[in-house]
Amino acid sequence: MRRILSGMQPTGNLHLGNYLGALKNWVKMQRDYECYYCVVDLHAITVPQDPQKLKQAVRETAAAYIAAGIDTNKSTLFVQSAVSAHTELAWILATQTPLGWLNRMTQFKEKSGKNRDLELLGLYAYPVLMAADILIYRATHVPVGEDQKQHLELTRDIAAAFNRSYNSEYFPLPEPQILGEAARVMSLRDGTKKMSKSEESDYSRINLTDDADTIALKFKKAKTDPEPLPDTLAELQKRPEADNLITIYAALTDRSRADVLKEYAGSQFSKFKPALTEVAVAKLAPMTTKMRQLLNDPAEIDQILIRGAEHANTLTQKHLREIKDIIGLWSVM
Ligand code: TYM
Repeated sequence: MRRILSGMQPTGNLHLGNYLGALKNWVKMQRDYECYYCVVDLHAITVPQDPQKLKQAVRETAAAYIAAGIDTNKSTLFVQSAVSAHTELAWILATQTPLGWLNRMTQFKEKSGKNRDLELLGLYAYPVLMAADILIYRATHVPVGEDQKQHLELTRDIAAAFNRSYNSEYFPLPEPQILGEAARVMSLRDGTKKMSKSEESDYSRINLTDDADTIALKFKKAKTDPEPLPDTLAELQKRPEADNLITIYAALTDRSRADVLKEYAGSQFSKFKPALTEVAVAKLAPMTTKMRQLLNDPAEIDQILIRGAEHANTLTQKHLREIKDIIGLWSVM
């Protein structure tokens, strides 16, 4: 059985990095895998959230999944907090996770402030919950962008530690699926920083809900250099902003960077940027329209999420009983 679990945080708008690095691959993988896709609201509350905005963002994220092509008849779409086995397994896995492993997590180092004593346990334990999200499904494959690689390695380590402690082979070691040209989409303002929801300037990213004029303006203002586009990948790699825009174009059109470069070598950005805008608008406009339609009927989204949670609960409760049995916790099989 090849099974996928992946998720996104419902914090602010999803952006082109989320789409090209993850969501686009999720859609493709529905053909060959049993897929579970969740909105990870419990991860979102590891930093302060406005409750009303969070509720809205959960539905928006679910709508974005569907608008991008997640077929809810094939894949299970649900909200993390509606499937309580995630948090129960997180506790069990915390008993298998040495502090040293968590101390190495770069995301915690980046997100935490100078005074470690003020940091919250939830933010520190975030990767253990992520491991539980994956392992409670006994997932074999996890499609993510490159920034999640370290968390996936930790998930494998935790799974192996559990298997060792209990002399079992219960958890498969999940394979990260970091696919395509755009596993790491960079900020439009700085080609050395990743595109992110938390970056202050909205000009640093293309949101999935941006209209055509906004997309055009953001690409127009995107940082570049004065040189025309080069004709080799080696030259391109020395120019992070140019590389990023070519990468985005390649991923949006399902072509390789080399192929796109062949077409645009020697072109000025004044020619390339409008072409990039055109392919981005062609891809995103139908998604935005579909998202708006879905959000006009929140009850329909809720129905889909209720159905998804029921399905996810059935599988994860079965797994939880098996895990409890392995550990020696009381449970009625
Ligand atoms: P999150 O919500 O930050 O991002 C969701 C997905 O989008 C990818 N991504 C990117 N890919 C390419 N370029 C970028 N600039 C970019 N920014 C984001 C991320 O790699 C991710 O695949 N911890 C996770 C959520 C999570 C999860 C899980 C993922 C919780 N539990 C279990 C997989 C499995 C996160 O914060 O992703």
